[in-house]
Amino acid sequence: MSEGKRLAGEKAIEFVEDGMIVGVGTGSTVAFFIDALAGIRDRIAGAVSSSEQSSERLRGHGIEVLDLNACGPIPLYVDGADECDRAKRLIKGGGAALTREKIIAEAAKTFVCIIDPSKEVEVLGRFPLPIEVIPMARSLVAREIVARTGGHPAWRQGVQTDNGNWVLDIHGLAITDPVSLERELNQIPGVVSVGLFARRAADVVIVGGDPVVVR
Ligand code: 5RP
Repeated sequence: MSEGKRLAGEKAIEFVEDGMIVGVGTGSTVAFFIDALAGIRDRIAGAVSSSEQSSERLRGHGIEVLDLNACGPIPLYVDGADECDRAKRLIKGGGAALTREKIIAEAAKTFVCIIDPSKEVEVLGRFPLPIEVIPMARSLVAREIVARTGGHPAWRQGVQTDNGNWVLDIHGLAITDPVSLERELNQIPGVVSVGLFARRAADVVIVGGDPVVVR
């Protein structure tokens, strides 16, 4: 599995062009991408990072971490996923970085998703769907989710996001209409963001199998 992550992360370097500001996601697959990016750090203008974890790794390699507000639209965003369907719609947030990831994906012209083959699914939802919530709204949001989806929310106890919020993981969903579910869950007061990347799906998916597939 980690070999697949490495292959996908290293392949994504082919999408980086000279002078680019590169959007960087979070997770163990992205760590391989960051390590590969270090090899061409003098050719890029810097990185916009989706988490403290990735920022630390980028800075450790001497790559400047830039404020998204100072960058405007960015040409490329590279990130992993917990699940990916054929239409390149994703579940993300296993690393609790979903909100910043969603912001950078929105700001990016091209979103390249890097996964190992185990992340490919026919229907999203086997991986519990992460939802970042304002702490005081945790119970309210959980009740609303049960009523609206029939899913089973679990509080990811002990985890605080980089934004100071909490995460609910929704078990037992078979997500046949990800765009509608994303829109519906975004309406619940107290929801900061939903780990469904369906409205803004990936543009390119790199699957680190043998052979590596770019689709
Ligand atoms: C973090 C994410 C990650 O992209 C996702 O959890 C995949 O992680 P990994 O590459 O470690 O399997 O969404 O919030």
